[in-house]
Amino acid sequence: MKNHRGTAERDIQIVRHLLTHLGETVSGETLARKLGVSRVALHNRMAALKAMGFPLVSIPRKGYLLEEIPDLLVPPLFLALLESRELGRPYHYLEQTDSTNRVARDLARQGAPEGTLVVAESQTRGKGRQGRSWFSPGGENLYLSLILRPPISLLEVSHITFLASVALTQVIRERLHLEALIKWPNDIYIKGKKVAGILVEMESRGTMPQFLVVGVGLNVNTPPGGFPPEISTRATSLMMEGGKRLLRAQILAWFLETLEEWYRDLREGHREALLAYWRRYNYTLGRRVHLEDGREGWAVGITPQGSLLVRTQGGTLLSVGAGDVEVVE
Ligand code: BTN
Repeated sequence: MKNHRGTAERDIQIVRHLLTHLGETVSGETLARKLGVSRVALHNRMAALKAMGFPLVSIPRKGYLLEEIPDLLVPPLFLALLESRELGRPYHYLEQTDSTNRVARDLARQGAPEGTLVVAESQTRGKGRQGRSWFSPGGENLYLSLILRPPISLLEVSHITFLASVALTQVIRERLHLEALIKWPNDIYIKGKKVAGILVEMESRGTMPQFLVVGVGLNVNTPPGGFPPEISTRATSLMMEGGKRLLRAQILAWFLETLEEWYRDLREGHREALLAYWRRYNYTLGRRVHLEDGREGWAVGITPQGSLLVRTQGGTLLSVGAGDVEVVE
């Protein structure tokens, strides 16, 4: 175990070094000395990184060259990019699984700490809200589940959903310059199409959640025409909106760093800024909505607990706590 951890740590250090010298030849001798390992040991780790998919070039008698950052989610790359303090570690990376939320829930039941992150390249039974499935092909998108153990009451659990949707919206807006908006309760939309969905699951004891699993599916690099027909008119990806392929590991790291900041505020009892951001970049407020029970009205606000306030045509004010609303206009 100790050795394994040592190797994993060393791989992260190697990747960090390569990232700071992107496009340059890195001297094997210098790097081996810096890491305190032999040239042979370094060579073996470089071979292992190549096998993980890093397009590393060995230049005889000179060293190693990484021309560009690959779009991988393997631990050495993601952890080399991650600058959060707590969220995102330990990192469980899976080639394929049924559902990362299921894996994270099992880990949480076994006592996995807050911040544990599960990511899969693809899911065979990706779960959406309300029993729906989540389109989860390999190598294109982000499917992640984060374990949180917040010291909040069950009444405030919806704030965790806000936290995730606000952090994701902020990353998409500020880092990728795309106009993401939040559709109540927790979908992210760009230009009227869904780019991400969030599924928060919880296990509780008494009046406190024991743990929460924040599951996020973000369509990153699905190309035009890449969605199945049943969702193709309603779904979009960051690549379709921004016109270029993006690095999933970088987006994942930004998301956790941003989430961590909001989470710190929330734990300290500050939620005004979070709710203000949520309101500011909201897609639902002010629009006409169709409720699951067939009623229609205007989305006029949200309560501090996160319910949507809808004024019906007859003037009644409804508080919608769960379920879906369809934006009519
Ligand atoms: C929605 O219906 O909009 C929520 C979709 C949530 C999908 C994500 S993908 C990663 C995580 N694992 C799952 O099985 N579901 C969530």
